[in-house]
Amino acid sequence: MPDHPTETASGAAAEPAAVLLDALRYRWPGADCDCLNIATLRIAAGERVFLRGPSGSGKTTLLSLVGGVILPQAGVVRIAGQSLAALSAGARDRFRADHVGFVFQLFNLLPYLSARDNILLACRFSPQRRARIAVAGSTPEAEATRLAERLDLGAALLDRPAAALSVGQQQRVAAARALIGRPGLVVADEPTSALDAERQQAFIDLLLDECAAAGAALLFVSHDQRLAGHFDRVLDLATIHRATGSMQAPA
Ligand SMILES: Nc1ncnc2c1ncn2[C@@H]1O[C@H](COP(=O)(O)OP(=O)(O)OP(=O)(O)O)[C@@H](O)[C@H]1O
Ligand SMILES: [Mg+2]
Repeated sequence: MPDHPTETASGAAAEPAAVLLDALRYRWPGADCDCLNIATLRIAAGERVFLRGPSGSGKTTLLSLVGGVILPQAGVVRIAGQSLAALSAGARDRFRADHVGFVFQLFNLLPYLSARDNILLACRFSPQRRARIAVAGSTPEAEATRLAERLDLGAALLDRPAAALSVGQQQRVAAARALIGRPGLVVADEPTSALDAERQQAFIDLLLDECAAAGAALLFVSHDQRLAGHFDRVLDLATIHRATGSMQAPA
């Protein structure tokens, strides 16, 4: 049923967009107007996009739609050419595990697992992440250590349960978990809010380096306008959301 928007006018076999939204509408259950109403949004493979908008404007909702955590009432969400609504719930979970790295606003670490196991969990659920690491001649454990070191998380910290880490440390564990196994799309929701200025810079550098090395697109939400200069494009949610209010049938 969903249509298949043509990716190229030339007919060349171009890489599909990392993210493609078309005629998307999302309304939270019980709400009387759409949270999001977006005619079209395309993020190219490898593109780095800074998404901003006031609190409550729908940034986290948009990321949940991009990850297939929620499905829109209308329109299409395609990730790397795959329509998320066309997948069963289980297939959607597997697709997300393989292709999308999430750094959530509230991290979503498993508190009783060590930092290392939290990072490795992303590989455990994704054969494709494991395969990409193997092709690069490494192991998930070595990759977890490499990413953690780049984020200034030493070996001793990696063996601690996530619950025993500071908020800033948890944020960095969440970033390593998103990046391990190089998914084609990394989605980050306010990932630097708990970091000091120095760690913030290291964090952004790692995110950008890893995404560049993997050819991954990056969709990055932040209120911190100073970070926008690191990105290819700044997207203002207010300018892509078509305000409709409640739909009223004519009398
Ligand atoms: N689980 C939910 N159930 C119902 N309404 C929700 C839910 N999550 C978010 N909303 C509503 O959707 C709107 C957008 O919320 P969202 O969390 O996407 O905003 P945001 O732009 O990420 O804000 P912030 O910058 O504060 O994180 C808000 O009005 C919010 O109340
Ligand atoms: Mg949010």
